[in-house]
Amino acid sequence: MFEDVSRSNCYNYGDALYWDARYIEEGDTSFDWYQRYSALRPLVRKFVPTSSRILMVGCGNAVMSENMVQDGYEDIMNIDISSIVIEMMRKKYANVPELQYMQMDVRDMSFFPDESFDSVIDKGTLDSLMCGINARISASQMLGEVNRLLKPGGIYMLITYGDPSLRIHHLTKEGRWKIRLYILPRPGFQSSEGCSSSRRPLLEPVALTERGLLPPGFAPEDPDSHYIYVCTKLQGISGLTSATSLDFRE
Ligand SMILES: C[S@@+](CC[C@H](N)C(=O)[O-])C[C@H]1O[C@@H](n2cnc3c(N)ncnc32)[C@H](O)[C@@H]1O
Repeated sequence: MFEDVSRSNCYNYGDALYWDARYIEEGDTSFDWYQRYSALRPLVRKFVPTSSRILMVGCGNAVMSENMVQDGYEDIMNIDISSIVIEMMRKKYANVPELQYMQMDVRDMSFFPDESFDSVIDKGTLDSLMCGINARISASQMLGEVNRLLKPGGIYMLITYGDPSLRIHHLTKEGRWKIRLYILPRPGFQSSEGCSSSRRPLLEPVALTERGLLPPGFAPEDPDSHYIYVCTKLQGISGLTSATSLDFRE
């Protein structure tokens, strides 16, 4: 669906006009990219307490936030660069006080003070920036803002198509994180005959190498799996080199 700019030409995913046009065309529907809340729930419940103040970046018209409220979450601020989708979602959830919607660019969230959130959830939004022009600068701005907005010990949950060779470098440039990686096959993925027992349980993290890469020879059963990075913000200064700003220990 998506591919980083370095690997293809999909420039408009980083463009507000592209998303506005898309949401106008889609009208009053909803769509969850990659995975639905039901599949992600074990990880969300494990790492994000229901009392958390949560920032959902690039919410789109997904039902993920609604499903989280139905599951007991009380405070979710949703932002998106598209004013069209924010207006639609505001109307749709006018009677749901646990959900708030604001038009905002993830690269500049200066509206919010430092350390305002316990958790930031990103399903497909860093990926959008990685498919736009100035992808590296945009990713760096976004991740710097995510790091700034999280309280120490807070969680950035990144749900992406990008394996560690495509994402760890960006994460380590902005902030100090303890990172756990989980892998989920695409919804509806059928394993080849006789392989179903080899499917990894969702709650089992993948042991990364010291440099934050997949172990040599490791290949997920579904080659188009989704990667879920659970990044805990560590105390201390940001901007350290990748060798010292990562911690993969359990
Ligand atoms: C792939 S969609 C994912 C939508 C939703 N999170 C989901 O899981 O279905 C990416 C979303 O990011 C939004 N987006 C793209 N660039 C953005 C930016 N710079 N700031 C805020 N939102 C952005 C788009 O408008 C779109 O709604």
